[in-house]
Amino acid sequence: MLSSASTSSRFMPPQATEVAQNVDTLYGFLLVISLISCVLVIGGLIYFAVKYRRHTENDKTPYISHNATLEFLWSFIPFLLFMASFVWGWIVYHQLRTAPTDALEVMVRGQKWNWTFAYKNGRTSASEMFVPVGQNVRLIMGSSDVIHSFYIPAFRTKQDVVPGRYTSLWFNAEKEGDYQVFCAEYCGDQHSGMQAKIHVVSREKFEDWLGNDPYKDLPLVEVGRKVYTSRCVACHTLTDQKAVGPGWKGVFGRKEKLEGGSDITVDENYVRESILDPNAKVVLGFPRGVMPTFAGQLSEQEISGAIEFIKSLK
Ligand code: CUA
Repeated sequence: MLSSASTSSRFMPPQATEVAQNVDTLYGFLLVISLISCVLVIGGLIYFAVKYRRHTENDKTPYISHNATLEFLWSFIPFLLFMASFVWGWIVYHQLRTAPTDALEVMVRGQKWNWTFAYKNGRTSASEMFVPVGQNVRLIMGSSDVIHSFYIPAFRTKQDVVPGRYTSLWFNAEKEGDYQVFCAEYCGDQHSGMQAKIHVVSREKFEDWLGNDPYKDLPLVEVGRKVYTSRCVACHTLTDQKAVGPGWKGVFGRKEKLEGGSDITVDENYVRESILDPNAKVVLGFPRGVMPTFAGQLSEQEISGAIEFIKSLK
């Protein structure tokens, strides 16, 4: 149990940080002492129940007052184990919660139902972030709507993301690779789809990515496809099937009935308005107030891209 702490196992995600190893070692210790205690207590119970069972009608239990040594031992040994768990737990918790001061800071925003990331140089990304391997990284996180929770199993760390204030967490990934992020606080319909990837890459690759315009030389429709996969996929399908919102296939150019009885044709203006002010004109059969606004979150290029992408889905 303790020796498995430095490797990944069949039961646990990989340990991609030193903190993850420390968390697992502590849990391994707790598991082992709990198992030993369980065997001693339950095993002793069964053993004594059998050994001292009543053999005949006249069996009498002898009078036993106490045994000071035994009582001291079964109090003092657990006391030492509890204190060890407390001190050890405090040390690991402190390490988990205290970000080094030289950390690379990244702003994180949670919104139903995706994660977006903003770096100091202005580079932004959605549903994926890049960090250099071996680098202390501190995430400063906020929510635009309800409580979410940023959870990275491979780093053994998790933090609530709350509207109206910033919370933070930090990590230092020691191995290159892609690590899954989950939202770990139920936040509505597509909670389970609120995921992201952390790409831990070499420093050169990271610098490359950081300085790179993600839409460089891309046709608008491909910009739109990227916007879709990073921002819209939780609620909109690429078929004509309705999910949380309408499916996108064939929607462009369609005539729709609105709440209140008037008609609308889905054109560039309607798509744009629905991205920026989703509740302005809600199509009949869809609930009001579900889609959040993307005003200030998508650039004009991204909005145009999304429109072109929807147009292309005939
Ligand atoms: Cu966001 Cu669950």
